[in-house]
Amino acid sequence: MAQEVTFFIDLLTLEACMQILPNVPCVADASGKRAVQRCDFLGHIPFSDTSEGLFRSYLSPAYMASVKQVRTWMEEAGMHCRIDAAGNLIGRYEALTPNAPALLIGSHLDSVKNAGKYDGTLGVILGIEAIARFHAQQKRFPFAIEIIGFGDEEGSRFPVSMLTSRAVAGSLDTLPDVQDTQGTSIQQALQERGLDPACYLEAAYKPSQVLAYFEAHIEQGPVLESTGHAVGLVTSIAAQYRFKVTMKGMAGHAGTLPMHLRQDALAAAAEAICCIEKIAQSGPNDLVATVGQMSVKPGAPNIVPGWVEFSIDVRAGTEDVRNTAAETLTHALQEISQKRGVEMQLTLQHDLSATQCNPQLSNILAASIHTVTGQTAYPLVSGAGHDAMIMAALAPVCMLFIRCEKGISHNPAEAVQDQDVETALRVMCDFIQNIPSEKAI
Ligand code: GLV
Ligand code: MN
Ligand code: MN
Repeated sequence: MAQEVTFFIDLLTLEACMQILPNVPCVADASGKRAVQRCDFLGHIPFSDTSEGLFRSYLSPAYMASVKQVRTWMEEAGMHCRIDAAGNLIGRYEALTPNAPALLIGSHLDSVKNAGKYDGTLGVILGIEAIARFHAQQKRFPFAIEIIGFGDEEGSRFPVSMLTSRAVAGSLDTLPDVQDTQGTSIQQALQERGLDPACYLEAAYKPSQVLAYFEAHIEQGPVLESTGHAVGLVTSIAAQYRFKVTMKGMAGHAGTLPMHLRQDALAAAAEAICCIEKIAQSGPNDLVATVGQMSVKPGAPNIVPGWVEFSIDVRAGTEDVRNTAAETLTHALQEISQKRGVEMQLTLQHDLSATQCNPQLSNILAASIHTVTGQTAYPLVSGAGHDAMIMAALAPVCMLFIRCEKGISHNPAEAVQDQDVETALRVMCDFIQNIPSEKAI
């Protein structure tokens, strides 16, 4: 059974923080504007673990505070809420008849470091706004609607990602044996929040409980802005690989070790990174590769670096393109390591297949986009990963993208227009009202 969590948030502190926060939600009725205000409200301490830039990682104090706050908004909107065995927040809006399968609407409440305020959170809050509108109109459907705030989409605490949607989709066999940078395991982090790691897989839904999965998300790219569309229709989501690379050379004295005798792990990594960039640049347009994380040891100005670890993130619209690039860069890194006398180990940490959105659901969503905006739905392939990729194993999925300013994301400058979010909310409400019975999807 999923279980309730005890929160360790000091209520006095929480209230004190809310009084000094500038962005307290002030619009009473459900709207795109209120959704934006709510995301802004969640963009600071105590809903961020850091005061400089938003950072909300899975099961952290800021994550728990956000779950508590979002839960009150879900309850106000007419939902019954629970925290599942993986720490996801789930609100259920009952169907006309009890125990009917549910349309799941989700996105994530965790964030990257120094994040924008809308990546993930906006999709959850928009789901709540849609329910609030239906509840105000006393409207119910033959299916239930469940809004899910997923806990770990980004993988910004543990070296795994999409962990909590995997649990919900039933595609996780065991809880990975990994630790965060402080040495805390997932198991310990769960226990700190009153969750039993042994029950983690109980977060899984049965396929018969689910009608479909829908996710609204900011585009995180510049296409909708450049084409003049407030919203877009996601047709598929790119395939992803994440690797960890370790290069081991020989640490030595920066003043005495001649250049030709060095086994400098960082110089090898630098050559590798430039090579990875070239491989991605010379591939098709949808191929991208990024080194975004690196540690250097011992890490002193007067020591030749003996050890380096870095990440590689490779994505493409198809697995073929991604896999070919991964093979090419593996060979290139092996050559560089050999030439420089450095030992290299490359480990695949994360493999997400490309995901197709469900054509029937997407047609319904496209019709709603047309009804609300008067424009033909603009199709987009998502380069960013989403919980929808994982949920596709459980149910048919579709996704709506919302224009964001200059396409900036994973950056505090992330911004959306209230009007665009209102458009997205209307599209969602129209879409939900047009979803047919289970058998028709
Ligand atoms: C998540 O934002 C990802 O695409 O890595
Ligand atoms: Mn993200
Ligand atoms: Mn996201």
